[in-house]
Amino acid sequence: MTARMKPPVLVTKKLYPKALELLQATADVEYHDSRAGLSADRLLTKAKGKVGIVCQLTDKFSAEVLAELPDLKVLSNVAVGYDNIDAAAAAERGVLVTNTPGALTETTADLAFALLMAAARRLTEAERFLRDGKWGEWYIDLLCGYDIYGATLGLLGMGRIGQAVARRAQGFGMKVLYHNRTRLDPAVEDALDAKYVSFEELLSESDFVSVHTPLTPDTRHLIAAAELSRMKPTAILVNTARGPVVDEAALAAALDKRTIAAAGIDVFEREPEVHPGLLAVENVVLAPHVGSATIATRTRMCTMAVENCLAGLRGERPPNLVNPQAWKG
Ligand code: GLV
Repeated sequence: MTARMKPPVLVTKKLYPKALELLQATADVEYHDSRAGLSADRLLTKAKGKVGIVCQLTDKFSAEVLAELPDLKVLSNVAVGYDNIDAAAAAERGVLVTNTPGALTETTADLAFALLMAAARRLTEAERFLRDGKWGEWYIDLLCGYDIYGATLGLLGMGRIGQAVARRAQGFGMKVLYHNRTRLDPAVEDALDAKYVSFEELLSESDFVSVHTPLTPDTRHLIAAAELSRMKPTAILVNTARGPVVDEAALAAALDKRTIAAAGIDVFEREPEVHPGLLAVENVVLAPHVGSATIATRTRMCTMAVENCLAGLRGERPPNLVNPQAWKG
């Protein structure tokens, strides 16, 4: 088979090499070998004429962009969240959209737990204090925070990642509450020792609230000023899901006024911008969207995205199709 006979595929950003090689073996790949994404204009120019695109969460595929890509068959996102893609509009055009669920569950749950612990024990604040040469003498209330062991954890969203966080919480003797669109099977609730509660109860009863919902029109600003005001003044909010699920301005105000105690935040409303109010307060641990950032997990995500893309190009139903309406099988 000559290179010209291979299906044209765009890779919008740097991928781990193993995945790229897998794709190159079968497809005629235009590879944007850069950590920096393409501008919207360049993305569109390069995407035209491609039947497959392996994209990342910084690439936006709106209905308008998709309308300009009549040749496109598979849009494969290297992420579990796919709010950067209008999957319904893609389905109307017969474009298969895929994601990478499962690959990053445990890694992201690890980071949620790390942020929870770092915020509770004021770890980054403590490090700043030490590095700034402020450590003089040990004293009784130096950088005292909150206990994790035995505390109540409220999981907002109880999909794969929420459940993985619940398993970690068991090791810390935590009481686990959760709220989800649909209640889990009682056997799963039992195995996780997790209690289903209303959203209001989750907010008012939890010492830690950890967000694990996808970003949809229903979850945008799910946690805003009113919800923050229902939380305990000692509560800690963790968000490793998507930034816009939390109203960042309201969160910054709540942290500043200490109507909640602290937060651990990995995702932001307008990445890579961070609300100045968050940068101004000490009681928040901030990370630059690194929930799934381990070498093994990111390698797995890239490979999974390429496998999804290749399956779609072979005319098979991709294993991780998120818009099944697009599948004409
Ligand atoms: C990362 O944020 C992902 O959705 O995979």
